[in-house]
Amino acid sequence: MDARTISDDLERVLLTEQQIQERLAELAQEVWAHYEGKDVLLVGVLKGAVIVMADFMRALPGSVPMDWMAVSSYGSGTKSSGVVRILKDLDADITGRHVLIVEDIIDSGLTLSWIKANLESRSPATVEILTLLRKPDAAKVEIPVRWVGFDIPNEFVVGYGLDFDERYRNLREVATLAPHVYS
Ligand code: IMP
Ligand code: MG
Repeated sequence: MDARTISDDLERVLLTEQQIQERLAELAQEVWAHYEGKDVLLVGVLKGAVIVMADFMRALPGSVPMDWMAVSSYGSGTKSSGVVRILKDLDADITGRHVLIVEDIIDSGLTLSWIKANLESRSPATVEILTLLRKPDAAKVEIPVRWVGFDIPNEFVVGYGLDFDERYRNLREVATLAPHVYS
């Protein structure tokens, strides 16, 4: 493991742990009211959504099941192409069920719109999206996101599940990286 602490590699904290938790608690109330009396399944996309899922589902006042998908998106470098391959599919049959996709961040939205269409092809009752973070480019794709935690500027961020080269997912805040990390 790296001997440095994470904070040495950060430039600026965009969202503190407390801000995130407070917002998730608000969203949990809204979501709970929306699905009152309905059978909802939370679906996370590995790996970025792990931390959001853990905190969001524990902010819900009642019990809900969760399931996971893993996908790989073809395309070079950091830009996603929207062409997706399923590496791990859902365990659950979602026919007739209310699916809530729980995401960490929507950037181009291409991956997520593919996933949403794929899930909709399985005859669920509804498919909605909750994301902790949304970047401005998400507006370019027609992807209806019902619940957004925070709209953030078009900067690369890490922490709270989000990685740079598989690192920094365990940071409790959402932050930008210092320039020395990239070079
Ligand atoms: P897109 O919405 O299809 O462009 O891709 C979204 C995915 O790209 C997210 O699920 C993240 O894995 C990754 N991503 C986008 N922006 C960031 C960021 O600022 N930091 C870390 N990962 C990001
Ligand atoms: Mg992701």
